Amino acid sequence: MVRHIRRALASGLVLLASLGSCDDNTIVRDVAIIGGGASGTFAAVKLRDAGKSIVLIEKEVILGGHTNTYQDPVTNQTVDYGVEVYHNQQFVKDFFDRLNVSWTIADPNFITSVTPQFLDPKTAKPVNYTPPDPTAGLQAYAQQLSQYPDVELGFFLPDPVPEDLLLPFGQFIEKYPDVANATFTICSYGQGLGDELKQPTLYVFKNFGTDIIRDIATGFLVTTGQGNYEIYDHATKLLGHDVLLDSTVVNTTQRDNKGVELTVQTPTGYQKVKAKKLLITIPPKLDNLRPLSLNHRESDIFGKFIHTGYYTSLVNNTGLPPNYTAYTASPDTQQNIPKLPGIYVVTGTAIDGVFDIKYGSPSPVPDEDVKREILSYVRKLQANGIAEKLPDDPQFVAYNSHAPFELTVPADQIENGFYDDLYSLQGYRSTWYTGAAFHTQDSSMLWNFTSNYVLPDLLA
Ligand SMILES: Cc1cc2nc3c(=O)[nH]c(=O)nc-3n(C[C@H](O)[C@H](O)[C@H](O)COP(=O)(O)OP(=O)(O)OC[C@H]3O[C@@H](n4cnc5c(N)ncnc54)[C@H](O)[C@@H]3O)c2cc1C
Ligand SMILES: *[C@@H]1O[C@H](CO)[C@@H](O)[C@H](O)[C@H]1NC(C)=O
Ligand SMILES: *[C@@H]1O[C@H](CO)[C@@H](O)[C@H](O)[C@H]1NC(C)=O
Ligand SMILES: *[C@@H]1O[C@H](CO)[C@@H](O)[C@H](O)[C@H]1NC(C)=O
Ligand SMILES: *[C@@H]1O[C@H](CO)[C@@H](O)[C@H](O)[C@H]1NC(C)=O
Ligand SMILES: *[C@@H]1O[C@H](CO)[C@@H](O)[C@H](O)[C@H]1NC(C)=O
Ligand SMILES: *[C@@H]1O[C@H](CO)[C@@H](O)[C@H](O)[C@H]1NC(C)=O
Ligand SMILES: *[C@@H]1O[C@H](CO)[C@@H](O)[C@H](O)[C@H]1NC(C)=O
Repeated sequence: MVRHIRRALASGLVLLASLGSCDDNTIVRDVAIIGGGASGTFAAVKLRDAGKSIVLIEKEVILGGHTNTYQDPVTNQTVDYGVEVYHNQQFVKDFFDRLNVSWTIADPNFITSVTPQFLDPKTAKPVNYTPPDPTAGLQAYAQQLSQYPDVELGFFLPDPVPEDLLLPFGQFIEKYPDVANATFTICSYGQGLGDELKQPTLYVFKNFGTDIIRDIATGFLVTTGQGNYEIYDHATKLLGHDVLLDSTVVNTTQRDNKGVELTVQTPTGYQKVKAKKLLITIPPKLDNLRPLSLNHRESDIFGKFIHTGYYTSLVNNTGLPPNYTAYTASPDTQQNIPKLPGIYVVTGTAIDGVFDIKYGSPSPVPDEDVKREILSYVRKLQANGIAEKLPDDPQFVAYNSHAPFELTVPADQIENGFYDDLYSLQGYRSTWYTGAAFHTQDSSMLWNFTSNYVLPDLLA
């Protein structure tokens, strides 16, 4: 129901957009932005507030990217099953205040009455696993992190790249056994990173950095209204006819030091966009960038990315007890990190009978396979007596693919200067970049990165 309302709203905005263009059906702007998730929406609001004209091109019918807010049609209760929390930082508060989104700092000592179970990701049977106290391990990890303060701000790597950053994380915790007891905690935050024990430690450090550790201790910032989608709902209204929803670039007729000219497919037809500068915030995989006419230099760099799969869902009719929570843990892995592809977590939500189930994979999996695996896991919970078998079969209330999720390159590429090459593309052919592949999968951190390293050039 909510989705339908948003779809109607979306096409209304697109109509407004064509009214806002000039006679020859060309939208002329200072900056064209592709991708209206966390980074693109932030950039659009900031650039417009600073007096630049913009157009924001988003392929989905709503802004928000990895933000998934479900609203129960009966009670209006919302559940965030994508992005949940933000950093307690002034730049986050300022952005939310700008958008009239209310926020608070969550109580870090909030203890739920539910004790999580640990289940095998394959069999859905309880695993004999007691998580170790992570406190000392986190201190040892923070000590390691403190050697690389610039890594917290971007892919600013020492030259040569320190060997520890290139080690697979599983080897890093063998080299530094004092860190090992924090592994399960670190990997629970690192959902979506695929086989985190095999990832170069650099990506773990970027995902789980100093400011996250501080937020865990002192409380994350959370929104207090109708779910996190409110950020993007308000931004959509604020940006008005400068947002093209349900729209994609189909070809590029100019992208050089004088500016860019794009053809955009919108629900009301093709639309030319001319801009002095282009900001790309979408996952920079070759197939996603193809309509932007990459040259050799660009495709050599972007062609090196590999990616993981990450999938979110809300499931009904599970037969699980109210508020039941289970994390997966494998009986025979280093630090019991769950083997993937598989389920990460099953947790109750604020909507009665609806459970949040997250699934991860080191490489992408077709949606049909992920959905089958999730429902099959619920049936295993029923067969194992953890859940009750109900007359109605478990069914999806919501499902979203977040693939391609984490974009990474192998350790030898990091060592050979991949990130210097990647960052050298900033400004090349009047094109700038931000988004997770350029920093980390964290909305707040991306807002700071975008402000510090990308917006100054776009405002110049
Ligand atoms: C389940 C889950 C939970 C998370 N929890 C948190 C959390 O609690 N806190 C936090 O800070 N971060 C969290 N993250 C990470 C956070 O969502 C990301 O760091 C952030 O959204 C990345 O922003 P981005 O701008 O790079 O990409 P996105 O937000 O994904 O935005 C990219 C946008 O581009 C659009 N797009 C893609 N291709 C095209 C195209 N060809 N043309 C036009 N548009 C296109 C997409 O539809 C999307 O809207 C979570 C992610 C997931 C999946
Ligand atoms: C849900 O929201 C709609 C629209 O705002 C409102 O009309 C309705 O009364 C609300 N229902 C409940 C149960 O609060
Ligand atoms: C925020 O609220 C104020 C006061 O109600 C209003 O004037 C302004 O337009 C709102 N801005 C946004 C972005 O919603
Ligand atoms: C890790 O936790 C285990 C179990 O709680 C404990 O026996 C061990 O001493 C801890 N290791 C370190 C290095 O602190
Ligand atoms: C770009 O796409 C539009 C719409 O399909 C088409 O009319 C135009 O010829 C294309 N231009 C190029 C250079 O491919
Ligand atoms: C859950 O499933 C039942 C029966 O299959 C349905 O009546 C109910 O509306 C569903 N609840 C939600 C929140 O979708
Ligand atoms: C489930 O958790 C929610 C929020 O934590 C709480 O309000 C609710 O009372 C709990 N329900 C049960 C049945 O424990
Ligand atoms: C935000 O950016 C500023 C400037 O680079 C930096 O000093 C600060 O530490 C950053 N904040 C976070 C939380 O990373």
